[in-house]
Amino acid sequence: MIRLRNVVTKIGNRVIHKGVNITVNKNDIYAILGASGSGKTMLLREMLMLVKPASGTIILFNKDIKDASEDDKNSFRDRWGVMFQSASLFTSLSVGENIATPILERTKMDKILLKEIVMFKLSLVGLQPEVYNMYPNELSGGMRKKAALARAIAKDPELLLLDEPTSGLDPVSAEDFDNTIKNLSAALNLTVVMVTHDLDTLFHVANRACILKDGIVLSEGSIDEISKTDDDWAKKFFYGERGIKFQKWKQNRII
Ligand SMILES: Nc1ncnc2c1ncn2[C@@H]1O[C@H](COP(=O)(O)OP(=O)(O)OP(=O)(O)O)[C@@H](O)[C@H]1O
Ligand SMILES: [Mg+2]
Repeated sequence: MIRLRNVVTKIGNRVIHKGVNITVNKNDIYAILGASGSGKTMLLREMLMLVKPASGTIILFNKDIKDASEDDKNSFRDRWGVMFQSASLFTSLSVGENIATPILERTKMDKILLKEIVMFKLSLVGLQPEVYNMYPNELSGGMRKKAALARAIAKDPELLLLDEPTSGLDPVSAEDFDNTIKNLSAALNLTVVMVTHDLDTLFHVANRACILKDGIVLSEGSIDEISKTDDDWAKKFFYGERGIKFQKWKQNRII
């Protein structure tokens, strides 16, 4: 679905990525890990063609974006849904209108049919029908994230890109959100790429991941494989205090 080869990213004179290699396969739930400021969001922005790398190759849906026509690029945009770090909904629009926005960008649609589609998306992410007429500032953080997720799946994407989907949620809401992502990806045959710091999300939802550090990918593979990465940051992440959860997860898997 996505392949990055030797991607170099610069902002002014600063080098953010020195040569990043990533492969996201179809039906992966792929996590991008790394310390704050390591360039994870920037990588997502490059995958979404919002930022152009200084050099290197980005292949989306088996096509090098350098060779992609405007039509190709528009069709890519139709094939993915995105949830940015702040779950940025349009505050002046109701939840229903927010979810309808990406659909209306592409087609004109009968109002009744549009409402039915939006209601279906709300139910897919586990939000009640009443939320349709509510405004973002009337929602809890967890509901807002779900509304943003409903908007991300509005156009029936094949690919979902999520930036820190569970950050700021309490553990119960985060687990609920994790389950929603897992169930959605299975039900809708989605490939998911997400940036996350959340160990629970990583262990319970993702099947593959990479660790970004010092502008390169230190390791890429199954969660089990990358947990063995010989690096200080990776060791702290997996085997520090919070990483104890990982040990439990591993034991459960063996049983
Ligand atoms: N628009 C921008 N202008 C200048 N520098 C930027 C811009 N966007 C990002 N950067 C810089 O690029 C680097 C990587 O930023 P990025 O947002 O990708 O980090 P991140 O890994 O997502 O961090 P976090 O986990 O905190 O979200 C940071 O040092 C940041 O300061
Ligand atoms: Mg970020």
